[in-house]
Amino acid sequence: NGVEPSSLQETTSASADIQRQPFVIGVAGGAASGKTSVCDMIIQQLHDQRVVLVNQDSFYHSLTEEELARVHEYNFDHPDAFDIDHLLSCMEKLRQGQAVDIPKYDFKTYKSTVSRRVNPSDVILLEGILLFHDPRVRGLMNMKIFVDTDADVRLARRIKRDTSQNDRDIGTVLDQYSKFVKPAFDDFILPTKKYADIIIPRGGDNHVAIDLIVQHICTKLGQHDLCKIYPNLYVIQSTFQI
Ligand code: ADP
Ligand code: C5P
Repeated sequence: NGVEPSSLQETTSASADIQRQPFVIGVAGGAASGKTSVCDMIIQQLHDQRVVLVNQDSFYHSLTEEELARVHEYNFDHPDAFDIDHLLSCMEKLRQGQAVDIPKYDFKTYKSTVSRRVNPSDVILLEGILLFHDPRVRGLMNMKIFVDTDADVRLARRIKRDTSQNDRDIGTVLDQYSKFVKPAFDDFILPTKKYADIIIPRGGDNHVAIDLIVQHICTKLGQHDLCKIYPNLYVIQSTFQI
């Protein structure tokens, strides 16, 4: 049919390469909106797939001694608080099938001290408040999810989390919220909602949204995998295909 065998081979190996690339899902939204909870639920449902979770928090810049002395003036919700070049290089390696060492950030010391080894996977979930801000990071994603939870719910969860897990007092949490967290949400996070493919109201409480997302991932990973996870969906899929 006029196609040279060599071109055919190139086409076949090129499509094989595309298939081997992991499926990257970005999950953004305000702090304490439920991003991690949504990722955990997706991971649970993808039980027999190779899935890995990478948090943008891991790429916070460690504070210098001068910054530490004036920590209450530091804006952790500004895009400059993150080492995006490091995140990009880790993601590039994972996409090429290499294992990477991802830093572990400590919210109490404000520093990254240790790291964890992350192996390449079929699905990479990337979670963080400002993941849709940098076009280079957005460009890595096959699917973008924005977790949309009311500001009062996010603040209530934040107070609970920061006072119990991070040893902070409520006054400090509220000052940080009004000085940095809320303005940064309005200026940097909310404007990125427009990049989302899917907006999930109520975060991890929204089981219907999570089910639909998992179905989509399974379809992208292939019919065989889908049938392993959702045996009953085979019938539904067949009906749609007719
Ligand atoms: P994020 O990753 O966006 O910061 P998390 O998923 O870590 O949000 O949730 C923030 C806090 O709120 C956690 O302490 C978590 O246990 C709690 N949380 C998350 N989703 C719910 C929910 N649907 N109901 C009650 N608490 C929740
Ligand atoms: O996990 P989550 O998305 O909630 O983390 C982001 C939030 O963590 C930001 O709103 C930022 O203010 C907060 N943060 C903090 N102290 C740090 C680092 C981040 O309060 N040392």
